[in-house]
Parts: sequence; structure tokens; C-alpha cells
Amino acid sequence: MRKLADTCRRKGKTIGLVPTMGALHDGHLSLIRKSAKQNDFTIVSIFVNPTQFGPDEDFGKYPKAFKSDCDEAQTAGADMIFHPSVDGIYPDGFQTFVDPGPIADKLEGAARPGHLRGVATVCVKLFSICKPHRAYFGQKDAQQLAMIKSVTRDLNLDLKIVGCPIVRTKTGIAMSSRHSYLAESGLKKAVTIYDSLKHAKRLVKAGETDIAAIRAEMTGLIKTATGAKVEYISFNSWASLDEVNLISGKVLISLVVIINTVRLLDNIIIHSKH
Ligand code: PAF
Repeated sequence: MRKLADTCRRKGKTIGLVPTMGALHDGHLSLIRKSAKQNDFTIVSIFVNPTQFGPDEDFGKYPKAFKSDCDEAQTAGADMIFHPSVDGIYPDGFQTFVDPGPIADKLEGAARPGHLRGVATVCVKLFSICKPHRAYFGQKDAQQLAMIKSVTRDLNLDLKIVGCPIVRTKTGIAMSSRHSYLAESGLKKAVTIYDSLKHAKRLVKAGETDIAAIRAEMTGLIKTATGAKVEYISFNSWASLDEVNLISGKVLISLVVIINTVRLLDNIIIHSKH
């Protein structure tokens, strides 16, 4: 992989990297298309990264679809699939991790200790191996995107991180590989998650700045429509992820809802003039 990346660079070709864990959906494909537009050579990595899963999480059963992933990635514009083994990325004696700092302790970091440290570590390794000029991440995992930008800046990594908009199903559900865990009834319930975010946006547009009031309305809407458990609804300044008490400036509203034991994430960034 490194030799190929070196050859590309020697020939003056730009490299785009789309890191994935496979089970590709339209969200991933939109990243690949964007990379293919902006670069001469697009690498899609497919690697289910063990260090970002907790001991009781779904590492062992994470959805896999390697053959169709390759076909779909190629159709979307990928020039190469990088599919390393776990031993290749974490050989015996591996002991170095990237600590992203406090940005990784809140939100998903609080719910899944060590998760973002694992993501940061594998991404820095993928950057080092694939040598991209640009790497593409979806805003669906907004904290991951903010954290990777922060790590790239803090470690002076020589690439640009490109954030891309969330891709949704026709009914508004943010695309996720973990949807395969949900039955039809679960997917129907999941529609309410984006409804609650749109409702929050409307409230802000109408002048509401009180976070407790917005959170209460969102929770009420989800509970009434689905009975699902809201794990958290958080309001953070974008992109520092500092928690905010009032809506002002660029604010990330993110939430996790548990439907049929599946944790579903979604978010929206609102621009308030207050
Ligand atoms: O978003 C993902 O799929 C993963 O966290 C990533 C960025 C591929 C790292 O394993």
C-alpha cells in the first residue's frame, strides 16, 4: 500500500482516503464519490477496527459484505480497496495509541470509553500507510469528525480532513451500517429521531434559546411516538464540542436513541444568530 501511495505521489497524483469498516451504504458511497471528484486516486479502506469496540460491543458480529462493498466502491469511483488484517494493523507487541484529549471524553466518549482513542489510533495509522492528501468523514459521526480534525491539527498531520453531509433514507433516517440489526418496525420508529431534530431547529428558528426546553420537547416527541429510550440529547458548540447552556452561534445538537437494543445516533448543526 505504501509503495503504491509513494508511486502516486511521485507522479504528482493526489490521493483521497475514505476510511470505512465496510458494510457500505449510500453515506459511504457519497464520500467515495466526493473523493473521486477531488482526487486522482481514491483508496477505500475496509477494516473493522477492534480497538474502537468495548468488550461488550458488537465487534464479533459487525456486519460484513466484502464482495458487494468492493463492487459498490468501485462503481462510486474507488481505485483501490485497502483491506488489511487485524494482525497487519496490530502486530504482536503493538503498544502505541493516540490520545485525542478531552474532546474524546464527552458524548460518545463518555458512553463508550476508549472508543475514540481506538478511532484516532487506527485513523493515524491509515493516514501513515495510505499517505492521502485528503481523508473523508461523514458528519453522522460528528464527534469523530471533530476529533479527527483536532488530532490532525494537533499532530501537524499533512492532510486535509473533509467533512461531508449526512446521507438520509427517504424517510429521514441517517444511514448506518448497524441498521441491519433493526427489524422493519425498528426502522419505522427511527424516523422520529430526525423529526425531533427538525423540531428543535424549528424551535430555535422561532427564537427558543433555552436548551432544557428544547431537550424536553425532543424527548417528549420521541417517547410519545416510539416509547424508545433516549440515552442523551446534547448541545455542544461546533467544532470545539464544549457543552453550551444557551443556543448561540454554531451548535451541534446530537442524540442517541435506543431502539430494540440498537444505539442510533443522529445530529444536526444549527446556526443561530442569537
Ligand atoms: O466511522 C467509521 O466507520 C470508523 O470509525 C472509522 C473512521 C473507519 C475508523 O475505524
